[in-house]
Amino acid sequence: MNIISADRNGEDIIFKRQRNAFMQIDSSDLTKNMLDTSKVLYIEDDDGIRLLGEDAFKFATIFEKEARRPMKHGIVSPQEKEAIPIMQLIVERVLGNTKDSKEVLYISTPADPIDVDMDVLYHKKTMEALTKRLKYDARVIDEGLAVIYSELADYNFTGLGVSFGAGLTNVTLAYMASPLLSFSIGRGGDWIDEQAAKSTGLTKERVTATKEKVSSLNNQVTVGSPEGALNIYYDALISYVIEHLKKRLAHITPPEVAFPVAVAGGSSLPKGFFEMFEKKMKNAKLGVELSKVVKAKDPLNSVARGCLIAAQTQESQKPTKSQKNQSSKPKVKKATH
Ligand SMILES: Nc1ncnc2c1ncn2[C@@H]1O[C@H](COP(=O)(O)OP(=O)(O)OP(=O)(O)O)[C@@H](O)[C@H]1O
Ligand SMILES: [Mg+2]
Repeated sequence: MNIISADRNGEDIIFKRQRNAFMQIDSSDLTKNMLDTSKVLYIEDDDGIRLLGEDAFKFATIFEKEARRPMKHGIVSPQEKEAIPIMQLIVERVLGNTKDSKEVLYISTPADPIDVDMDVLYHKKTMEALTKRLKYDARVIDEGLAVIYSELADYNFTGLGVSFGAGLTNVTLAYMASPLLSFSIGRGGDWIDEQAAKSTGLTKERVTATKEKVSSLNNQVTVGSPEGALNIYYDALISYVIEHLKKRLAHITPPEVAFPVAVAGGSSLPKGFFEMFEKKMKNAKLGVELSKVVKAKDPLNSVARGCLIAAQTQESQKPTKSQKNQSSKPKVKKATH
């Protein structure tokens, strides 16, 4: 749903975000001149014009058309043949070229899903190639590990990182920044929207809008309302993720320490989500000890922030807590979902 970059500017982190979306229009609908003067991001060929990013969403409402998405289930969509050139432009918009070819860029990538037949290798290699074209020293990091980099510096990058995204939910268990276990689940915000739409008869777009606006989960909602359906599917999603986590943990022998858990991603934003997740985690009998559950400071930007910290760590080769606040020059960014 989103392509986000994080870049260091002194003490501050600058985030840039674009919707990973596009919309087809006839060349006659809008003159190119108008698009150029209003700095709208677009591409044009024999098939007409495609508006990209945030503007695709804006114009989709005006023209009552559908905004299409280059990615599906957390990877480049096989159903959209133009996905790659479109993402190239959106990525360029959030990253820009680098003048310094040694500048480290970390791109987040999902782990292979364990509940659907899907492979992330093609997506990973495509995103790497796409950012290398912009002259970065591009590397990839697991989305769940990026959450650990962002949120668990105070715990020496040891713990469980969970990112509830749109297409996927990513989970990584790490000890001192080394992954012990990494997987994704083929369900996230899109799955919640689809299920809630099917059960209430509302369109998926309508459900997404309600979800992003209302964003509150509790047991008091009216049965039969979209909020009621959202509640049910959020509950089901969390239980499903924890059930798979429990199964995966049974296959490894992690060190005997208490692991903190960090939860991030756009789908963790609703009020009440964190409490629901925390309660279920504590009751889950996972077979590892959990010290505490922490909420990402900025759930939507957490993965991008983790990529930035990973890149700084890479540049200095010392993964210590002090890097988190380091204000020196590295200009490093994150470029996918
Ligand atoms: N305020 C909100 N309340 C509830 N859900 C929200 C809110 N804002 C965004 N979302 C949902 O969060 C999801 C997007 O989150 P995020 O940006 O973390 O995903 P992504 O990284 O683009 O997806 P993926 O990781 O699967 O590739 C979407 O399903 C969106 O509808
Ligand atoms: Mg994501």
